[in-house]
Amino acid sequence: MTTTLITGGTVVTATGRSKADVLIDGETIVAVVAPGSQLLGTDLPAGVDTVIDATGKYVIPGGIDAHTHMELPFGGTAASDTFETGTRAAAWGGTTTIIDFAVQTYGQRVFDGLATWHQKAAGNCAIDYAFHQIIGDVNADSLQAMDGLLAEGVSSFKLFMAYPGVFYSDDAQILRAMQKSAETGLMTMMHAENGPAIDVLVEQLLAQGKTDPYYHGVARAWQMEEEATHRAIMIANLTGAPLYVVHVSAKQAVEQLAAARDNGQNVFGETCPQYLYLSLEENLGAPGFEGAKWVCSTPLRSRAEGHQDHMWQSLRTNDIQMVSTDHCPFCMKGQKDLGLGNFSKIPNGIGSVEHRMDLLYQGVVNGRISLERWVEITSTTPARMFGLYGKKGVIQPGADGDIVIYDPNGHTSIGMGKTHHMNMDHSAWEGYEIDGHVDTVLSRGKVVIDHNEYLGAKGDGQFVKRGLSQYLI
Ligand code: URP
Ligand code: ZN
Ligand code: ZN
Ligand code: ZN
Repeated sequence: MTTTLITGGTVVTATGRSKADVLIDGETIVAVVAPGSQLLGTDLPAGVDTVIDATGKYVIPGGIDAHTHMELPFGGTAASDTFETGTRAAAWGGTTTIIDFAVQTYGQRVFDGLATWHQKAAGNCAIDYAFHQIIGDVNADSLQAMDGLLAEGVSSFKLFMAYPGVFYSDDAQILRAMQKSAETGLMTMMHAENGPAIDVLVEQLLAQGKTDPYYHGVARAWQMEEEATHRAIMIANLTGAPLYVVHVSAKQAVEQLAAARDNGQNVFGETCPQYLYLSLEENLGAPGFEGAKWVCSTPLRSRAEGHQDHMWQSLRTNDIQMVSTDHCPFCMKGQKDLGLGNFSKIPNGIGSVEHRMDLLYQGVVNGRISLERWVEITSTTPARMFGLYGKKGVIQPGADGDIVIYDPNGHTSIGMGKTHHMNMDHSAWEGYEIDGHVDTVLSRGKVVIDHNEYLGAKGDGQFVKRGLSQYLI
C-alpha cells in the first residue's frame, strides 16, 4: 500500500479551517494533525511514499455531485457524456463522487432499470459513483421493489411531476410512493413542475409561432414550479415522507421550502450553478438558436425578477442546502438542433459536472458564501443527505482519501480548448473566469489530477453503496 502525505496546507471542512497535514495509507485517511506535531510534520515518518506540498493551498474533501445524468436517454437522443467521459471531467473539476440517476422507464421493472445503470457504469468510471433510482412507473410492482432498494445501496428515488408521457407521476402515484418513502426512510426526490399545465402553455406558444428557445423559459413559468413544490410539500407533510426538491430555480419555490422547514417539516432543496449565474434574458434569450445551449428544466429564470440573487442568499441562510449540477449534456449539432423551429423538442440539459467546484468557489471570492460553506454545500451536506458521510464529505481518519488541493492564487479560464473535458461541442460556461484552481485531486488515495495532468483511469471508480440520509428524523 502506498502512503501519501499532504503537508503545509489549510484543511477546510464544513465547520472550520486549520493548518494540518493529512496522511493517507492506501485508500484511507489515517491521520490529520497539526504541522510539527510528533506524528507528522517537519520530521516525516519513515515509509511515506509520496509527499505533496500544499503550502498556500486549501485541502478540502473531494466534491460530491449528487445529481448527474450520464448517458440519459432523453428527447430521442441520449446525454452525450458516458460514465467514462463524464466522470473523467468530474475529476478534472475536483469532484470525486457522483450520484447518477438509474432509470426505470414506463412499463419496465425497477430492478431491470437499476441493472441497466450498473452495466453502463461498471468498469468505466474514473471516480466513485452511486445511484438514485428514478421511478418512472409507480405501480404495485414498483412499490414492492422499493422495499429492496436500500439493500442495493440505493437510498433515494426520484419522481417527476413534469414530463407527462415520459417519466410522469400523478398525485395518486406520488401519494403512494411517498407513503413508501415514509415507511422505508428512502428519500423522495422531486422534480417539481406542473407538467400537464406546462404542456398546455407549450402548445399555445407554438401555435402563436413562438418557437425560439426563449419560450421554453416562458412556458415553464415560475408559478408552475411554486405550485408543484407546494403540492409535493403538502403530500410529504401528509405522509411523513422526507422530501428533497431537485434543481430549484424559482425564488417562490425556495419560499415554499423555507416555510415548510420553518414549520418543522423534513424537506430540503438543491440548486444548481446555472440557477446562480445564468438567466432567461441573457442565456435562453440569446440571438437565434444559441439559447438552446441553456435549455434545461427547471428553466433559467429572469434576472430582473431577482431569482439568482435570492438563490445565493438562500445558500447562506440554509433555505437551500446544497448544490449539484444536474449534469445532462447534449451537443448543439445532432442533439440540441432537434428543436430547431420547436423549442419543446430541444433535449433538456446543461453540462456542468466539471465546473461546479470552481463556480461555487467564485461565490467565495465574490463574498457570496464563506469558504466553509463552500465545502459544506458541495461535499459535506451531499454526503450527509444521501448516506455517504464518514467515508465521504469529510477529512478525518477512516474517511476515503478523496481530497482536492485547491489553489486560491491559481486561475481557471473555462471554455472550449481551455478547461473542457466533457463530451460536448460547446460549453454552457464559455468565458467564465475563476480566481482559483483545482491543483491536485486524489480519489481513494490515488492522485488522479496532478497540475493539469490526468493520471486516473477508467475503472478506478467503484460503486458505493449508500445508507439512509443522515437528515432523517
Ligand atoms: O433539464 C434537465 N434537468 N434534464 C435532466 C432531467 C431532469 O429533469 O433532471
Ligand atoms: Zn428533473
Ligand atoms: Zn436531473
Ligand atoms: Zn498549482
